[in-house]
Parts: sequence; C-alpha cells; structure tokens
Amino acid sequence: MNIKKYKTSEERIVQASENSDALKLYIETYGCQMNVSDSEVVNSIMLDNGFALTNKVETADVIFINTCAVRDNAEQRIRNRLQALNALKKKRKGLIIGILGCMAERLKEQLVQEEKMVDIVAGPDAYRTLPQLVKQVETGQKAVNVLLSREETYAEISPVRKDANNVTAFVSITRGCDNMCTYCVVPFTRGRERSRNPESILREVREVISEGYKEVTLLGQNVDKYNWNNGEVNFAHLLKMTAEINPSVRIRFSTSYPQDFTDEVIKIMASYNNVCKYIHLPVQSGSNLMLEKMKRGYSSELYLNRIQAIRKYIPDCAISTDIISGFCGETEQDHKDTLALMEKVGYDFAYMFKYSERPNTFAARNFEDDIDEKIKKRRLNEIITLQQKLSLQSNEKDVGKVFEVLIEGFSKKSDDRLFGRNSQNKVIVFNKEDAKTGDYVNVKVNSCTSATLLGEILK
Ligand code: SAH
Ligand code: SF4
Ligand code: F3S
Repeated sequence: MNIKKYKTSEERIVQASENSDALKLYIETYGCQMNVSDSEVVNSIMLDNGFALTNKVETADVIFINTCAVRDNAEQRIRNRLQALNALKKKRKGLIIGILGCMAERLKEQLVQEEKMVDIVAGPDAYRTLPQLVKQVETGQKAVNVLLSREETYAEISPVRKDANNVTAFVSITRGCDNMCTYCVVPFTRGRERSRNPESILREVREVISEGYKEVTLLGQNVDKYNWNNGEVNFAHLLKMTAEINPSVRIRFSTSYPQDFTDEVIKIMASYNNVCKYIHLPVQSGSNLMLEKMKRGYSSELYLNRIQAIRKYIPDCAISTDIISGFCGETEQDHKDTLALMEKVGYDFAYMFKYSERPNTFAARNFEDDIDEKIKKRRLNEIITLQQKLSLQSNEKDVGKVFEVLIEGFSKKSDDRLFGRNSQNKVIVFNKEDAKTGDYVNVKVNSCTSATLLGEILK
C-alpha cells in the first residue's frame, strides 16, 4: 500500500474547513509566477495557524492581496481593486485587509496611510509573521512588517496549491535578485538573491509528483545563479536531479539570464527527454547602448551567442523573451536594433512592455524618462506586430507535425475541446475524445493562429 507521510493540499484545506471557528482567508494574487508560488506558501502558513481557506471573497474574514510593483499599471490595478474591497469592508464589520508582496515592500507604511482600508502590509520575506499580524489588527492596530531577509527561502514549508490545475506545479528555488538592472524594482521589493536548500526542493518535487502533478516549473528571478554551498550544487546539477526523479514528469524553469545561462544547462536540457525544450531568455533590447544603460551586463552579440548555443544542442527548442520599449534615451535606431534582433532570433513568443519609470531605481534617479508616451506606444505596437508575425511563422512550421501534449484542462471556448502544451510550451487545442486532464496524448497539428495550434488526438 502507498502510505503517505504528509497531508496533501486538499486534505489540509478540508481539515481546516471542518473547524467552524476558523477565520476564513481569501487570497488574490497578481504579478508573476513567484507570487503565485508565494501565495501557496501563505496558504500553508495560515492553515498551520488555524485559519481556513475560502474561494468566496464575500464570506472572508481576512483578505490578502498579493501584489506586483514592476510597472505603474500593475500598482494602479491594485489600487482600483482596493476601492472595490472598501465597499465590502463597510458591509462586513471586522473584515481585515492585508497587502502582501512587492507593492507592500515598495510602499511600506505609506500604504496604510494612503489606503485607509488596509490593515496589514507584509513584504515577501515576512509571511511567517502573518498570523501575528492578524492578531495585532484584532487588537485595533495596523500591522506592518516589511523586513527583508538574507536567508528566508520558506524551504521547509509545503505550499498549499489551492487554485492549481493539479497538473502543473511551481516550485521556487531562489528568491530575490542581485542584478540591479537600472529600470527594475524587483531587487528592492524582493531583496538579496538566495538559494533554497536542494534537499527541500527535491522533497517538494517528490511531494507534488506523488499528488499526481505531471509538470514542475522551477522558479527564480535568475535560476541560472542557483548556488548551494559555494558551488556544491549549481543550477545544472539541480536540473539534472529533478529530471531524474521521474522520467514521465516534465521539468520547466524560469527565468534565465543571458550571460549566466551555461552550455552545461543546455546540455542537460538536451539529454533529458522530460526537461522541456523551451527557454525564456529575456533580452529587453537589441541595442547595445540601451543594454548598457539598463546595466544588463551583456551585449546583443553575447546574447546571440547564447541563442546559437541553444540552437546547436537543441534544434527544436522554443525561445521566448521579454522586451521593453521606450527606455530612457531610446532612439529610432535603438528601436530598429530591437526589431532586427527579434527577426534574427525568430522568437516563438514574447512578453512586451512599455518602459514604466519606477521610483528610486537607478534609472529614475539618473536618467530622464524622456520618450514621449505616443512614441513608446507606437514602438511597442511595432514590436507586437512583428512578434505576431514571428509567432505565426513559428506555428505554421508546426502544422503537420505530431507532438506529445500534456493536457491541462478544457479549452476556454468549448467544453468539447481540451487544451495542453507541448514540450516547446505551445498551447494546442484539440477534440476531447476520451482523454482527460493530466493525460499525455499525441496530437497532430492541423492548423494554427499566431497564438494557438489546433489539432487532433492520434489514436
Ligand atoms: N528576472 C527576470 C524578469 C523579472 S520582471 C529577468 O530579468 O529577465 C519581468 C519583466 O518585466 C522584465 O523582464 C522586463 O521586461 C519587465 N520590466 C521590469 N521592469 C520594468 C519597467 N520598469 N518598465 C517596463 N517593464 C519592466
Ligand atoms: Fe529585475 Fe534585472 Fe533582476 Fe530581472 S534580473 S528581476 S530585470 S533586476
Ligand atoms: Fe511583480 Fe514582484 Fe513578480 S514586482 S513581477 S510580483 S517579483
């Protein structure tokens, strides 16, 4: 018999809900995958401290908003959401509202002063103290903990994956970032870079696999800098160890940093079938002048050298990127350099943003945010249009091919159709037949759009 040594997420959620005295917690998550993963850590901490979890915001006693500060519009969205929650707070006496995550860390006490409905402000390294912060609010005070730590990795906490699809899980391997790209707020909101104990990572990967998950994504702002005990375990070792746990469980990772992304890692990707053939390698700009000003620490030539290395060892690898348009002083030529680099690489996918000045970053203190909003927008649109063309070209090459697809759920448009991803992280939609979520199926691609492949299951 298969005896479980630990409780699954579901068992823990159900057990807590049986306590009718428990305060009910509702968490809403914004921002990147690190935040999704952090909210799962918060679930775990709160369950261990006698709280129950709810999906219904109207029934909650405590609402946590896990926030992002990377661009101004991310923060505006959260401020608008707070207005809506304020109406709820007026109706429900005693409702506690907490702001977690990067916006909490960036604004600190200022947030409780500016937003009267906020009771708790807790930064990314302060989640163990959330139960105490709730108690403090119950005594009529506001509670703020924004201390950053050099050690905190929540290593031994088993995240409670409440809103997950039970197929794909995120496992965090590093926290913080030491890179200090000049435009970026993350080093200020997440603190110093630190790696999590490899044993606790492998234990968590085994746990999620025994719960039935079929894909694990290792997470960090710069996973290539993973480093345990002065190089005893580096990212390549960790990737190899996770891949070897179970050959039918896929491993992905995000995000890689161009000059830290080694051939050693590429070779591991190439030699393990279950390590997905997909790499997210943010370039930000194709212009060396801009890259220098961003303090990215690489040139477009070095970046292209990494792309060549990927293509050499893994010819069928999909590559995606992040791009910022309209950074300080960006000329038409710099912008053209970005478009040219995109063409050269032929990205399969990209996340594209307009530069948004973040207070107190190096760029905010030293450069003028001098690109007119209209120009930023026009350049961004040109970047998006080009990427749509590249994505379509990439997808058209896949028509007629057969891919192994891990099914993640029903297609948004129809209950007769399922969707999943191939190793290259491309979304494929196909008829249901008798397959179900969590299965691997072979799908033949019949047609495509720039965003999706459409196909049929091969019997
Ligand atoms: N650690 C990752 C990305 C973290 S933030 C990396 O370095 O690649 C995700 C993306 O948001 C970044 O890659 C960048 O493209 C974008 N971004 C960060 N700060 C920004 C800003 N001030 N304005 C616009 N986009 C920004
Ligand atoms: Fe920000 Fe640069 Fe760190 Fe990425 S690597 S999180 S862009 S500072
Ligand atoms: Fe946003 Fe913080 Fe992630 S600023 S992108 S939630 S690390």
